[in-house]
Amino acid sequence: MSTNTFSRTEREQTRVATLNAGIIGLGFIGEVHARAIRANGHNLRAVSAANIDIARDGAQKVGAEFAVTTEAMMSDPEIDVIHICTPNIFHAELATLALQNGKHVICEKPLAISVADAQRLTELAHEKKLVATVPFIYRYYPTVRDARARLAASDFAPHLLHGYYLQDWLASDEVENWRIDPKLGGPSRAFGDIGVHWVDLIEFVTGQRITRLNAQLMRVFESRSDAPSVGTEDGATIIFETNTGAQGSLVLSQVSAGRKNKLWFSVEGHGYSYVFDQENPDSLWQGGVDVNSTFMRGSASEGASRFSILPAGHPQGYQDCFNAFIADTYSAISSGESDGLPRFADGLRAARLTAAVLESAKTQQWVEVR
Ligand SMILES: NC(=O)c1ccc[n+]([C@@H]2O[C@H](COP(=O)([O-])OP(=O)(O)OC[C@H]3O[C@@H](n4cnc5c(N)ncnc54)[C@H](O)[C@@H]3O)[C@@H](O)[C@H]2O)c1
Repeated sequence: MSTNTFSRTEREQTRVATLNAGIIGLGFIGEVHARAIRANGHNLRAVSAANIDIARDGAQKVGAEFAVTTEAMMSDPEIDVIHICTPNIFHAELATLALQNGKHVICEKPLAISVADAQRLTELAHEKKLVATVPFIYRYYPTVRDARARLAASDFAPHLLHGYYLQDWLASDEVENWRIDPKLGGPSRAFGDIGVHWVDLIEFVTGQRITRLNAQLMRVFESRSDAPSVGTEDGATIIFETNTGAQGSLVLSQVSAGRKNKLWFSVEGHGYSYVFDQENPDSLWQGGVDVNSTFMRGSASEGASRFSILPAGHPQGYQDCFNAFIADTYSAISSGESDGLPRFADGLRAARLTAAVLESAKTQQWVEVR
């Protein structure tokens, strides 16, 4: 057993009180949330959906205690935390209701489809003193934490940040999904859906902030089987600058054949490069002028080994990140702070970047980001 693996005693020390959860929306990600709640020893008390019949099916599938209406979930005094896993358009309204009812909230990204709503939610969570997080879960790869720790310890800030996030699930015009309809998905599709993960990750890892950007949107299909006229982007190319003067670029696409969930970045500074690849997340590549190396997960810094729950060679993945994110959110509820927990303020940051991307694409100008 690796000495860097999280030991049983450490795990027991960090165990938190059992909390009662409710999930709204049980599609792809709602089920991931349900598994993460269970994996952390918490109780999935209730689920709700678009209607009570769907909720009943969902409750049976994930083994929740009850299927309820969303209204009943909000007023259930036994529920401590509500997970919002619906299409984007419902996030702001549901998160507002949950906070007003005194619930801690985990709201899926994008937190809201407008900056004003994201700002209002961030302020409301602060005012109510409730824990309110957004699942930017790629932060929870041990190799991502390792890259972050190595960069923080470096004498030289990176001067070039670049990468891509590519998928192919929309590569056919016959695929039907609510994300294609801006009335459900919001005004940005590829950036709002996956671009926000990449920019959150690059800012988290480097500690830098994107201060200005120039974006072009790409639309391959002008119509799709469920949309005679498509209004949102299939992809984007973006160049940007950061507060330290670094330059960067990002390529986004949901129509790149063969690319399933290819989130990749490289950060380059004087004498080093670090590369993270979400489809091969168990190692971090380090480039040097004379020697290149590969750090195995768990071999590294303190902040990273906390998330390495298996010895290297026994791959960890997406669900493990999700479990770790839920663990940290729930321990923030029980006991306070947690390093690197993505909160509503980070969802607001993503909303600001989304608005800047849309404005830049529309005006064909560089846009400043607050
Ligand atoms: N953090 C991540 O890595 C990640 C990954 C995937 C999706 N997401 C986000 O999660 C959300 C859901 O995405 P998905 O892929 O699970 O979608 P999905 O289509 O698979 O599931 C959406 C679910 O919401 C339910 N629903 C629809 N309208 C509802 C309403 N009014 N009230 C309650 N439930 C309703 C649907 O019945 C469905 O079960 C999106 O906002 C998406 O951006 C985040």
